[in-house]
Amino acid sequence: MCGIVAGVSRRNIIPSLLEGLKRLEYRGYDSCGVAVLQRGEARRVRTLSRVCALEADARAAELDGLTGVAHTRWATHGMPVIDNAHPIFSGEQIAVVHNGIIENHEALRQSLTEKGYEFNSQTDTEVIAHLVHEHYCGDILAAVRNATRLLQGAYAIAVMCRDEPNRVIGARQGSPLVVGIGKDGVFLASDTFALAGCASRFIYLEEGDLVDINGLDVQICDAQGQAVARREIAFVQHALGTELGAYRHFMQKEIFEQPVAVARTLATIVDLDPLQVGMPREGELADVSNLLMLGCGTSYYAALTACGWFERFANVAARAEISSEYRYREHVSQGNTLVVAVSQSGETADTLAALRYAQSMGEERTVAICNVAASAMVRQSRWAFITEAGAEVGVASTKAFTTQLVALFLLAIVIGRQRGRVSQSEAVVYMRQLAALPDALRNVLAREPEIMAWAEELYQKEHALFLGRGTHYPIALEGALKLKEISYIHAEGYPAGELKHGPLALVTDAMPVIVTAPNDVLLHKLKSNMEEVRARGGRLFVLADSDTGLKSGPGVRLIRLPAWFGPLSPVLHVVALQLLAYHVACLRGTDIDKPRNLAKSVTVE
Ligand code: AGP
Repeated sequence: MCGIVAGVSRRNIIPSLLEGLKRLEYRGYDSCGVAVLQRGEARRVRTLSRVCALEADARAAELDGLTGVAHTRWATHGMPVIDNAHPIFSGEQIAVVHNGIIENHEALRQSLTEKGYEFNSQTDTEVIAHLVHEHYCGDILAAVRNATRLLQGAYAIAVMCRDEPNRVIGARQGSPLVVGIGKDGVFLASDTFALAGCASRFIYLEEGDLVDINGLDVQICDAQGQAVARREIAFVQHALGTELGAYRHFMQKEIFEQPVAVARTLATIVDLDPLQVGMPREGELADVSNLLMLGCGTSYYAALTACGWFERFANVAARAEISSEYRYREHVSQGNTLVVAVSQSGETADTLAALRYAQSMGEERTVAICNVAASAMVRQSRWAFITEAGAEVGVASTKAFTTQLVALFLLAIVIGRQRGRVSQSEAVVYMRQLAALPDALRNVLAREPEIMAWAEELYQKEHALFLGRGTHYPIALEGALKLKEISYIHAEGYPAGELKHGPLALVTDAMPVIVTAPNDVLLHKLKSNMEEVRARGGRLFVLADSDTGLKSGPGVRLIRLPAWFGPLSPVLHVVALQLLAYHVACLRGTDIDKPRNLAKSVTVE
């Protein structure tokens, strides 16, 4: 999704802006650009290529200036062509970079055209540039304030003006924007990670805030125009950081980091109480009888997996909802509900909106399960559990997913304890199982050579079916999502019992069927489903717990995972599926960390 870096520096700002853009590459983009104020002129370069190409272009154009704005664009309005790449100019005077969607851009475009403004792009951003230009009377802060009042939709913007060479204005509404203060300058970016190289203190802007960076001075005012002081946080360098090291791709690195990520997430737990922000008082969840979980993509599948845990351990009615659907449905209050927003980034626009919608419908008890402590969802929720996965750079979510599962499992146990459904001794058993998870994960990772052999057999296929039952059905969905998103193979996940209600028609020897087979109570049912596939000449690839008794045979390829790991078994099986998707994608030669058309953090609807 679009990324912003901007600021005012004591020295040439170009290296800081480009370094910031490189750090934002993980979010996904299809064009990028940078502009600086140089000798009384606004100068820019833009490219449809990667940031390293932009760097070469900036060098060739001899861009050099103290004030600048830069951007990675993920197209929403208008194709990825140079004219649509940011920074977007109004005349030679105003330069804007923008993340978000302006919903009333057509009406604004119409009225600006009538006033004589010419549009050189198809972007919604160009209306912002022209509006700022229209309102400019010598004070860029006032111009941005007046322009943003006319905008509907979501935006984080950084704006500079040729006539005020040491000034950058930022504004946010619905999209994230953070101020970073360093010894050489003051910067703005979409996340702290972008500024890790040049800033050490950070301030997250709140909804409606405007920030005026004037030289090395920073002034923030709220939506009403009142000066406000926002909390400053220091940058925490994560041990599970963003250096690729010996790995070929970030996704591979992040898959292998899972034992440590899970161990670190568990290390944050004191007294079986994972709700760490604004701790709920003992028993505060005791009357919870309904759970509403919200998420998108992989985070939604984590929520779906956890439904079974909440039902089993806490005896609460649990439902997982896709955020983009839930936010537009009628909210039927169930009473005594805990709302759980699940998100790696904590900034996903649909989940944030769904959370706010639930709150607006009177749901007061909300918890965010996020990997980013300072994210909007954490700030929006009453409680938060921060997973300790470390920075996840690959667009395909891996370690964030397994740590979300750990967090949800813990929450199920906590609610079960508070509701008297899980005894202290049972809780101890579950905690021991959690503690054994990192080693069990290492065991699964050790199956990589066998998984690579499967990848050789699968990488030329164009379709695949993934099957699972119970808590492993969402794991089948997640396995299919991983495969499609990074290898571009069409894949579907199904509950195995549904096979004969339709998808069995697809099964031929050209349709590999990948099965996640734990040794749980549904195993004998799953065996029958596998027989259904075999009887139609289908080829099975089975991830089986070592104690299932399942064997390889004609048409059946089998990888033996460790013995059944109890209710946490989904956490192990999904890792094998991540590795499978990864190695298939490697053989197909796709852009694994930045798959086409996708963004890491989806901050627009
Ligand atoms: C997973 O591999 C995806 N890239 C995607 O589905 C992701 O999980 C989804 O966009 C939600 O993101 P979030 O966890 O940051 O809210």
